[in-house]
Amino acid sequence: MNAESIILEARDIAIHYGGVKALDGVSFQLEKGEIHGLIGPNGAGKSTVIDAITGRRKLTRGSVRLDGRDISGLDIIQRRRRGLARSFQRTSIFANLDVREQVVLAAHKVGADAPEQEALEVMGQLDLLSVAHVPAKDLGYGQQRRLDLALALVGRPMVLLLDEPMAGLSPQESRELAEHLLQLARDWNVSVLLVEHDTDILFDISDTVTVFELGRVIANGSPETVRTHPRVKQAYLGSAA
Ligand SMILES: Nc1ncnc2c1ncn2[C@@H]1O[C@H](COP(=O)(O)OP(=O)(O)O)[C@@H](O)[C@H]1O
Ligand SMILES: [Mg+2]
Repeated sequence: MNAESIILEARDIAIHYGGVKALDGVSFQLEKGEIHGLIGPNGAGKSTVIDAITGRRKLTRGSVRLDGRDISGLDIIQRRRRGLARSFQRTSIFANLDVREQVVLAAHKVGADAPEQEALEVMGQLDLLSVAHVPAKDLGYGQQRRLDLALALVGRPMVLLLDEPMAGLSPQESRELAEHLLQLARDWNVSVLLVEHDTDILFDISDTVTVFELGRVIANGSPETVRTHPRVKQAYLGSAA
């Protein structure tokens, strides 16, 4: 991999909670415009690594680099403005605001130059224009999840971090969301770090997969390589493989 194509890098990240080593020396890299899947058993450290990258958790050691710069010293808001976004399932917070109002509000919050225009473009990309005036509480689950994504995408982040975005969706809705992630990577060159329980979809849409176990990386590579890795089969896929 050449350095120019790396957008996000975790370098020897550790997060210890007293005696618990939630992460213990994790390194991996995201290329520009790739979908990078992250899997591992419960408690492996997947959510913690997302918190570490966004700045929600303080590193015990190591560093996070975005587009060639060390961002470890920046807070959550500074990282968001540098182009690192995560999606939350937070449409319920503003249940009575309609889709457009919410996306415009988010665009203002990240300091977009033209918030109204930015909101329209993001809504267009996620097929939300037809529900622009629908209050969040009246959206279907799939649409709500796309709204969560839209709120993360205003200001055009370079990297999008997603922690189990398909949880609670039907197979059909999950497929649609997966299709949108592929489009975002392709059309907007967004790099996606995707933690997802549904490994079929994850292996299907990821360019690269990293596997965690007990706070460490046990495998990393193309979906084909990782799927057949002996340690992965044993540790994670288990009887399901
Ligand atoms: N605030 C915390 N205090 C202590 N231990 C924590 C805390 N948050 C997470 N952990 C521990 O860190 C490990 C990794 O958790 P997590 O990142 O949530 O795993 P995953 O998302 O892969 O299921 C687990 O052992 C969990 O119990
Ligand atoms: Mg988790």
